[in-house]
Amino acid sequence: MFTVTKELNFHREHSCLIIGLYDQPIKFDGVLRKVDEQFGGKLTELVKSEDISAKNKSITMIHTFGQIGAKRLYIVGLGHKKKVSLNKLKEALGKTFKEVKAANLEDVSILLDSFVSEKVDVLDVAYGISESFAMATYQFEGYKQKPNKPEKKVKQMTVYCEAFDQSEVQEVLTVGYTYGKAVNSARNLVNLPGNMLTATDMANYAQQLAEKYDFEVEILEKEDMLKLGMGAILAVNQGSVQPPKMIVLKYQGKDEWKDVIGLVGKGVTFDTGGYSLKPKDGIVGMKTDMGGAAAVLGAMEIIGELRPNQNVVAVIPATDNMVSGSAFKPDDVISSLSGKTIEVLNTDAEGRLALADAVTYAKHHGANYLVDVATLTGGVIVALGADTTGVLTNNEAMFEQVLEASYEVDEPMWRLPLFEKDKERVRNSKIADLNNSPGREGHAIMGGAFVGEFAEDTPWVHLDIAGTATTNKDYDLGTAGATGVMTRTLALFVERFEPIKD
Ligand code: BES
Ligand code: MN
Ligand code: ZN
Repeated sequence: MFTVTKELNFHREHSCLIIGLYDQPIKFDGVLRKVDEQFGGKLTELVKSEDISAKNKSITMIHTFGQIGAKRLYIVGLGHKKKVSLNKLKEALGKTFKEVKAANLEDVSILLDSFVSEKVDVLDVAYGISESFAMATYQFEGYKQKPNKPEKKVKQMTVYCEAFDQSEVQEVLTVGYTYGKAVNSARNLVNLPGNMLTATDMANYAQQLAEKYDFEVEILEKEDMLKLGMGAILAVNQGSVQPPKMIVLKYQGKDEWKDVIGLVGKGVTFDTGGYSLKPKDGIVGMKTDMGGAAAVLGAMEIIGELRPNQNVVAVIPATDNMVSGSAFKPDDVISSLSGKTIEVLNTDAEGRLALADAVTYAKHHGANYLVDVATLTGGVIVALGADTTGVLTNNEAMFEQVLEASYEVDEPMWRLPLFEKDKERVRNSKIADLNNSPGREGHAIMGGAFVGEFAEDTPWVHLDIAGTATTNKDYDLGTAGATGVMTRTLALFVERFEPIKD
């Protein structure tokens, strides 16, 4: 996809050249001067007449009529050089790539050096280019007999970069592209309707991933779960004609199987609410209730590609949550893999049940650290809105590491408290060890607190992505629908992970 070249070539015919332009003052210096000179100083004139702006994210397209080889020049405003950041740059680039895609251009080139500043160095820009390109040009294919318009795809991108070792730039472009493409894989899974992605389909997908990246794989069938005593996920699945799957992928990047990171993702392929049925408007969209699983699988794709020196076990409890004569009911008491018994007060609080067995199973596989990711509660949207992932933890140091990764990839998260009083509420049942729904107050906290009962003393971070897994509007780095959120945070967290000393 990417070719890195030192020499800016005004003779090669291709569809467009993308350049970055900083503001205050606008200067055509360095390599940009060459571009302006090639135009006979016309760019400087256009800046004077305010036909070209360098305001952040303003994009000006100029037809070149053959003057620079590229048929079009895209000038991307980057705002003030001192205020730029890699994430701002990605958004500006994403917006540009969307325009390039809409114009059906196939052979694109970009002047990397024009985006570099004191704040964002050459390699960061390279990363930003490839990641934002992958993410911004994503589109879910869908099932229309006739797609809206025949779309061409960018087939080739030439990256001009004078000042740096080309192979290093090439390497970083590949890393960014790997991250971006994995986000798209996660988005695809989330966008698939419930009838197109059953637990069995998800298990098959994981199996393929395992074959491609040489992961150890284990898929537990319903009978295996019965034998092991996974009463919690089995209860959720009880009303379904689709068999459940407990999906386990193992990646060993160290000599010994120690310091193992467990990534656990809620894989509810459709959530009707069960007998605590959702209102009809609340059911629409519940195909996305496996967003946590998608993020974990996306992260495993990155891990498989980049092969960090870490040990990871991914566990995904996959099932739908349906109603039928055999479905579980409110008041049922179930027995989880951990041995803890659970009084079911609400069958719509199913995610935490599936996660309970998955978290315990991750520990059986040696997980010393746990991150669970789940579209767990409507409550987190009430608390934090649709742009911020909710976090609970039992370990400050581990939380810091996850938070750090999330900053870096611009996936905002905010911590909610988890006090003894909160824990008491999930332990409050006359007839069982726990209840699965202590009531409306602080209910995002209750969801996490419940999962925390199964993490026990293992350092654990809980990510509630009910608000962030999907969006209802297009944005610079994606479209309405699945966001693929936490794919990158998880992968980067794993890549950078330092075992915690106590
Ligand atoms: N999958 C839902 C949470 C959800 C809501 C995800 C909106 C995405 C958008 C989850 O299983 C659920 O139903 N949670 C309940 C919990 C309650 C019954 C304690 C909720 O949030 O209402
Ligand atoms: Mn539910
Ligand atoms: Zn759910």
